[in-house]
Amino acid sequence: MIGIGTWRHWGLAGWLAVATGLALPRLHAALDDQTRLALETLSRLKDADLESNAALKNAVLKVLEKTRGEPEFVEIVRDFRLPGQEAELVRVAALHPQTSQAVEAVRMVLASSQSAILTQSLQGEQASALIEVLGRSGDARAVPFLQPLLNREAVQKAAALALTQSQEGAVRLLAAQKDGTLAPSLAVVVAPALRSARWPDVRSAAQTVFPETTAAPGKGTGEFPPIADLLQMTGDPQKGLAIFRRPEVACSTCHQVNGEGVDFGPKLSEIGSKLGKDALIAAILEPSAGISFGFEAWRVELKNGDEVFGLIVSDAEDEVEVKQQGGQSQRIKKADIATREKQPLSIMPAGLHQSLTPQEFVDLIAYLSSLKKVEPRQP
Ligand code: HEC
Repeated sequence: MIGIGTWRHWGLAGWLAVATGLALPRLHAALDDQTRLALETLSRLKDADLESNAALKNAVLKVLEKTRGEPEFVEIVRDFRLPGQEAELVRVAALHPQTSQAVEAVRMVLASSQSAILTQSLQGEQASALIEVLGRSGDARAVPFLQPLLNREAVQKAAALALTQSQEGAVRLLAAQKDGTLAPSLAVVVAPALRSARWPDVRSAAQTVFPETTAAPGKGTGEFPPIADLLQMTGDPQKGLAIFRRPEVACSTCHQVNGEGVDFGPKLSEIGSKLGKDALIAAILEPSAGISFGFEAWRVELKNGDEVFGLIVSDAEDEVEVKQQGGQSQRIKKADIATREKQPLSIMPAGLHQSLTPQEFVDLIAYLSSLKKVEPRQP
């Protein structure tokens, strides 16, 4: 194994030639050690100008080739600003929809002049994976791609949910509901998300535009039992796991359990050791009542008018890093920031229980409660 430090002695191009060796088989499901090592080295060179360094450019393109179909492909395209990779970016996003790289990939495509290729990909088999990623991007530029899908039966619910995740999309849904063009079956799906959206204007409009009874039949209608009653009920953790993963309940689009799901909110792999059932119930019914330290929401307004919303994960002298819903991070130079403001509400939306029956809710709690710290076994 070659130590990372030694490449300096070999000369960069020479080392990368070894690390990306042509002798390696071309197809691998995941990445081999040599490619990983090459990636790590490249990650330190990301601002290098490829056009003035042919050897480096060659090495980068070789590593790029080896990461096709893998999330790392997205990082290389981003770090070295490689043009013309949109089709493969879309393919990677659809293959790994739960990763933060997927979100980054669709953002890059949306920002490019080639965004029209999304229309075609959204016709294919990978449509629902891509719709989910477009939703998580929260990107207003995704709206023109998502809105036409509201008429396509197979994907209309996924598209409606995806639209609730950007302000622009939410506004379009409110407008459609107002002028009577939103199908009632879709109104039921989007109403809870819009009523608890993070934009105050959307929240208040949703309260008037969607009547209180817009809830799935038999679900969330009427009063939810008080916590004391919920604590008396018995839940099935196995069923709870399936509920946790349901797209419209959305837990796994913000939380990881044992490495699965999106790394955005607190990891929940050991939440059953940290919180009792009553605290778990409260955490879902009223997320803003006790926001976990370090997971407060921030709204950062840039001097150019853009707005970034998310968790501040690092705050250095000259830049801050904001982790956005979907898991991807954005570094912002402090010089570019006009204002930043901590938000009183949790990023975790209230009302997620509204799409569940009390029994389903209790199953979900039973699942979370079963996620305990594993004590190392004595040999
Ligand atoms: C939009 C992202 C998002 C979604 C969707 C989401 N959460 Fe959260 N969740 C967060 C964030 C951010 C926090 C930390 C801030 C807070 O405590 O409110 C959090 C906190 C929590 C906590 C407390 C964790 C702790 O360590 O104290 C629990 C439990 C939890 N979420 C469970 C769930 C469950 C179950 C669902 C699905 C019903 C869900 N979350 C959906 C973002 C989300």
